[in-house]
Amino acid sequence: MKQLKDEIIYEVNRRKTFAIISHPDAGKTTMTEKLLLYGGAIRLAGSVKARKASKYAVSDWMDIEKQRGISVTSSVMQFDYNDYCINILDTPGHQDFSEDTYRTLIAADSAVMLIDGAKGVEEQTIKLFHVCRMRGIPIFTFINKMDRASKDPFELMEELENVLGIRSFPMNWPIGIDGDFKGVYNRKLSQIELFGGGNHGQTAVSSTIGKVDDKIFADLLGEHYHKRLCEEIELLDMAGDEFDKKKVLTGELTPIFFGSAMTNFGVQPFLEEFLLMAPSPGIRPASGIEVDPESESFSGFIFKIQANMNPTHRDRIAFMRICSGRFGKGMSVYHVQAGKEIRLSQPQQFMAQERTIVEQAYAGDIIGLFDPGIFNIGDTLCGNDLKVKFDGIPIFPAEHFARVSAADSMKRKQFLKGITQLSEEGAVQAFKQIDIGIEALVIGAVGALQFEVLEHRLKKEYGVDLRIQHLPYKMARWISNEELDPRKLSLTSSTMIATDKLDRYVLLFENEWSIRWAEERNKGLILTDIA
Ligand code: G4P
Repeated sequence: MKQLKDEIIYEVNRRKTFAIISHPDAGKTTMTEKLLLYGGAIRLAGSVKARKASKYAVSDWMDIEKQRGISVTSSVMQFDYNDYCINILDTPGHQDFSEDTYRTLIAADSAVMLIDGAKGVEEQTIKLFHVCRMRGIPIFTFINKMDRASKDPFELMEELENVLGIRSFPMNWPIGIDGDFKGVYNRKLSQIELFGGGNHGQTAVSSTIGKVDDKIFADLLGEHYHKRLCEEIELLDMAGDEFDKKKVLTGELTPIFFGSAMTNFGVQPFLEEFLLMAPSPGIRPASGIEVDPESESFSGFIFKIQANMNPTHRDRIAFMRICSGRFGKGMSVYHVQAGKEIRLSQPQQFMAQERTIVEQAYAGDIIGLFDPGIFNIGDTLCGNDLKVKFDGIPIFPAEHFARVSAADSMKRKQFLKGITQLSEEGAVQAFKQIDIGIEALVIGAVGALQFEVLEHRLKKEYGVDLRIQHLPYKMARWISNEELDPRKLSLTSSTMIATDKLDRYVLLFENEWSIRWAEERNKGLILTDIA
């Protein structure tokens, strides 16, 4: 037994499971590729990119993705670097992202926030950041594209504070932000690392190093840049935040790294610092107790379900994040929500470029399970000796709504089946307007692209053509007061009263103003945005 315990402790401590959050075009694909390159998971930079460009990737299972060359669904990549075992949870990079993107963050132990130095904090980053904040996971910031002109680094730090509400600690400091990038000053090692340009990151670039006040740097950087750097570093040391690892681990302080993924500048130092600081899988709350990742008892939860990944077989894959114990191929586990034991055959792990059958896995790892329709998002799987239930995964608020029905009313049965399937996967949220006799459902989605996905999948998988009428609603709010009849509420004429799939009352609003109206005119009414 001691041996198993030691093995688990060793494996858990070398694991780092994180997601990269960013706005489209900030350089996530490029960054991921460079990280895989260091891990030896791919041999030549350009292959992830090439997959993106050739509109094909293992995770790009849907035609829409192929047509557009985007990844709608999240995938997982595992690779070893030095003694670490790294799991990168990829989140969809398209503007119209979905709940999957949010849910992936529930499975991560930390996040890397990638920001385009010229653009600063952008919209999608803000949304993803808030989910990380809600979970209190550490966030490491990489300011990318420093090889081009960028915003002033002090201004970027201020943006992090004002827009996201997080303090920051620059680990390095850029020199020459006006498009004449010279390199960075590494604050920990007190050395300058010179930008070598590089050959677009086909191979790692070596840096020239030395102390900030070395005469050689005054010569290399030029008087102007050298003087400015010395002043800025002094200012940072005097007026900036102290580095406090505890605050980093609770997500109150974000270490910032400046670099350039494309030219491979600063990526490896970032990776190495990140691995030193980022937490390994930690304790997870489950039904009032705390599950220790180093425990020998197995546990995990389903955070994502994806149907028909392989068009030649109708398959459904449930993605499980392991939280404790050792997972072994073919093991039997207790499915808490279903109240029965099941055997997990053909579990899959997602390596950088292919799916493989997994033999063993530990806390922090993500496993794909073939799902004959028995799993739901949020389900707990565990050993018989540890019957726990992980806290549920919140439903994130939909921001786009449409009335959806089958174009051919004879296909209503298939239509409902398809909608049920997709709402179980968490791809869309289905609502029913109360007191009206029409057959249409109101569908809510986190990203607008989800309607295209819905249309495509219902046609392809269920043979149903849809009629979609977009609605002006922007927000759904659940009524927390049980026993309250929403028909008696005073609401603006544009507010819709509906029920969700569990028959709970939901109000759909067009704007903040109508929410305020509802709250002000109906004393005691409690509205929540996450079901
Ligand atoms: P994404 O996954 O976040 O959407 O971004 P992606 O990596 O695809 O990068 C978006 C664009 O930004 C790409 O240019 C990429 O080459 C560029 N880029 C990424 N990192 C850097 C960097 O450090 N410096 C500079 N200057 N550019 C960077 P593209 O023109 O859209 O594609 P491509 O023609 O380069 O493939």
